[in-house]
Amino acid sequence: MIKQKNEVISIVGASGFLGKSLFNYLTATIGNYYEIIGTFFSSNNPNTLYQLDITNFEEVEKYLLTYKPDYLILAAGTKNVQLCEEDYDYAYNINTRPVKIFIQILEKHQLPTKLLFFSTDYVFDGKKGFYKDTDTPNPQTNYGKTKYLSEKLLLRSKIEFKIIRTAAVMGKYGRFFDWLVDGIKNSEDRAVFNNIFFSPTPIELLNEMTLKLLLDYEKIESKIIHIVGEKKLSRYEFALLLSNIIEGKKVKIIPETIDFSKTIFQKDLSLVQSGFVKVNQLKSFEEYIKTEVIND
Ligand SMILES: NC(=O)c1ccc[n+]([C@@H]2O[C@H](COP(=O)([O-])OP(=O)(O)OC[C@H]3O[C@@H](n4cnc5c(N)ncnc54)[C@H](OP(=O)(O)O)[C@@H]3O)[C@@H](O)[C@H]2O)c1
Repeated sequence: MIKQKNEVISIVGASGFLGKSLFNYLTATIGNYYEIIGTFFSSNNPNTLYQLDITNFEEVEKYLLTYKPDYLILAAGTKNVQLCEEDYDYAYNINTRPVKIFIQILEKHQLPTKLLFFSTDYVFDGKKGFYKDTDTPNPQTNYGKTKYLSEKLLLRSKIEFKIIRTAAVMGKYGRFFDWLVDGIKNSEDRAVFNNIFFSPTPIELLNEMTLKLLLDYEKIESKIIHIVGEKKLSRYEFALLLSNIIEGKKVKIIPETIDFSKTIFQKDLSLVQSGFVKVNQLKSFEEYIKTEVIND
């Protein structure tokens, strides 16, 4: 099933929420066949990772020329929508400039590295929902704008790449997920918006599909792939689903309505899964979420 290769897979941002989970998953599943390496920036816990500042051209160049990864998964960046909104330069510096740097270096040295970039549902305007991977983005926030700029840089580049758009990744250490699970387990009521819709994505599904994408890279023609859960839910509906899974706990999930004129939250950023995910997904959304709750 697995190719017998000694290729190098580098996860840049392997100390983050997505990157750490993917690093552990790839090491456990294909670690005997591929060399899995990862980087961190400021968190000092993972002593098996290399330190790398993705905003520093020289550092990135040295890293790429030293390790010459066959695949590079760019999971570093910021998802702090509020901070990005307050400071466009901060958002650009961490979400766009590094992609420019990676492209420049890969092109300069003609490295054959295949780059997988984690993008976001925020590239869309959030007005209608159910966005397909062929729909044209229209970001409304600095976060979405700087991630979309990176997508456009990749699409115009000469390097090998895929863009993975994912959304509201759910699993242990996810802020919203942990806040809900802790509330439910400790019988603390939770007020959750019932007029914000999204495509929550179990982290296990994201890991499985990213692995599949790596293994089948050559066979997949699409440049943009939506790896998200198959359900469009309101945040309130997601909280109810979680509380039903965590049985025996009496907790009130209170529906709340948000006033969109006073927030940067967008009404409906739900995405339609790409065909690649539809055919490869191993179990249902509810089953994945059950696993995340058990792992919590
Ligand atoms: N989480 C989601 O639901 C979600 C949904 C859609 C898309 N995404 C995208 O996925 C990416 C990762 O998200 P996440 O949730 O894993 O975020 P996260 O937990 O905040 O992790 C961010 C990662 O980026 C690294 N980093 C920050 N500044 C850096 C720098 N200057 N140089 C090198 N590395 C740097 C961090 O390293 P240190 O911790 O060591 O400083 C960390 O490993 C983001 O780009 C986001 O746009 C996430």
